[in-house]
Amino acid sequence: MRSGWNADALARRLAEWRPGARVVCFDRIESTNDKALELLEAGEPEGTLVVADEQTRGRGRRGRSWHSPAGLGLYVSFVLRPSLAPADAPLVSLTLAVAVAEAIVGLGCDKVRLKWPNDILIGSRKVGGILAEARGDPGRTGLIAGLGLNVNHTAGDFPEELAGNSTSLRLSTGHSWDRMRWLSDLLSRFEQGYGALQRRGAGEMLATFERLMSFTRGAGVRIESGGEVRQGRFAGLGSAGELLLDTGSGKILSCRFGDVQCARMR
Ligand code: BTN
Repeated sequence: MRSGWNADALARRLAEWRPGARVVCFDRIESTNDKALELLEAGEPEGTLVVADEQTRGRGRRGRSWHSPAGLGLYVSFVLRPSLAPADAPLVSLTLAVAVAEAIVGLGCDKVRLKWPNDILIGSRKVGGILAEARGDPGRTGLIAGLGLNVNHTAGDFPEELAGNSTSLRLSTGHSWDRMRWLSDLLSRFEQGYGALQRRGAGEMLATFERLMSFTRGAGVRIESGGEVRQGRFAGLGSAGELLLDTGSGKILSCRFGDVQCARMR
């Protein structure tokens, strides 16, 4: 069933996120992140939300695509200009991930986990992901945080290559959800977390993120980034959201990005 977004209703709900902020709504678009980046570069103010019912070239991290069928998922990109140093920009997408996880917990689903940096899992299956992209003048942080969330997908809605490790809110809870209501709940949670991050720093958010993570301190992890693989024990999150890895040689490695897997350690 196709159910597009109602831009007016969405704009009213958006007032809860940021009074006066703009909502740019599409039935179909290549990628909400591409549109949001274009707006950011043209000087769009903080708070604008780009939402689509369907994406034809949804983008994921590390050059992957994001399956974005009409009427089923949430495809949304925030235009943000946080008062943070550019090096701290990754904290924004961690803050969004925490808001998403807490909104899912709010549906009564307690198996939600965060896979650093930007994956949202239910059990061991992926339900959502965040792609954050920065642009603009050095010294002035401007970024896009794009969220893809599988909401009302049934098992048959996923292509074969995703079916084995993906889930949706519907598959995990047993019933379908109103995307608008869910987005509205997310917006108020994110507004709160994003404000707190800028006013009070990242400590509280990082502690919540770590509590929601799919592995705990001391767990063996393997992180692959830029063709390089590092292995060690998870030693917590750094102040800019980086993953700290204890390699056992007395050295703590700080990883800013990469794909993480649990690893057996001797
Ligand atoms: C990932 O897990 O790899 C991140 C996926 C991010 C997908 C979202 S959907 C809305 C926004 N527009 C895009 O093209 N990508 C992000």
